[in-house]
Amino acid sequence: MTRRKFVVGNWKMNGLSGAVGEAQAIFAAADDHAGVDVAICPPFTLIGAMVAAAPGRAIGGQDCHSAESGAFTGSVAAPMLADIGAELVIVGHSERREGFGESDADVRAKAGAGLAAGLSVILCVGEPREVRESGGAIDFVLAQIAGSVPDDFDPQRLAIAYEPIWAIGTGLVPTVADVAAMHGAIRGALAGRFGDAADRMRILYGGSVNGENAAELLGTGDVDGALVGGASLTAAKFVPIIAAGAASG
Ligand code: 13P
Repeated sequence: MTRRKFVVGNWKMNGLSGAVGEAQAIFAAADDHAGVDVAICPPFTLIGAMVAAAPGRAIGGQDCHSAESGAFTGSVAAPMLADIGAELVIVGHSERREGFGESDADVRAKAGAGLAAGLSVILCVGEPREVRESGGAIDFVLAQIAGSVPDDFDPQRLAIAYEPIWAIGTGLVPTVADVAAMHGAIRGALAGRFGDAADRMRILYGGSVNGENAAELLGTGDVDGALVGGASLTAAKFVPIIAAGAASG
């Protein structure tokens, strides 16, 4: 089964209105690289402007609330994202799990809300450094998968992003063998739960992906794409990663 590679920029809390032009440049350059799906998840404040400036492109949120609406000051609901033209949403990023105390149950509810609103979902998992060092990374991540992946969904609309916390923004990346072992274990767990549908689910790697390491990471078994933070903020840095995704597809 061939899964199209998926390269996603997570802009985190970066970008004022002037950054919309950078997204246009990224999407325009992506057209030179067939066979790879490209998405950008800017801050909430830029989604509407980006959808207007780059119609038909995959633009998403970085989080959503699990409720459809209600008294949740400061939060954004999944149907609101869909309403302004977002196609996808990231849930369970470690910066949400750690910084905002989100549990597996919270992440599962958010994923369900995103799917119910018609969005595609990228559900993040990943272990902290001490867990990696103690040899427990695979068990830790499989427990996150068990607790945060909902039961019933179209496999093409839910991707997993494996992002080891110690690799995010640090310049450190796991060995290719460790990435392959983790992605294989995730695929195995999904197959155990969802059968053949697991073959259609994309498993992305995230954590210090850049133009130099992207080809090797994206060429690794069971790596179906990349979730990119810092290197997704400019066309100059992001387009080489998109090119690597196309070349490995
Ligand atoms: P960096 O690519 O900046 O390490 O961030 C990865 C990430 O957290 C993407 O969601």
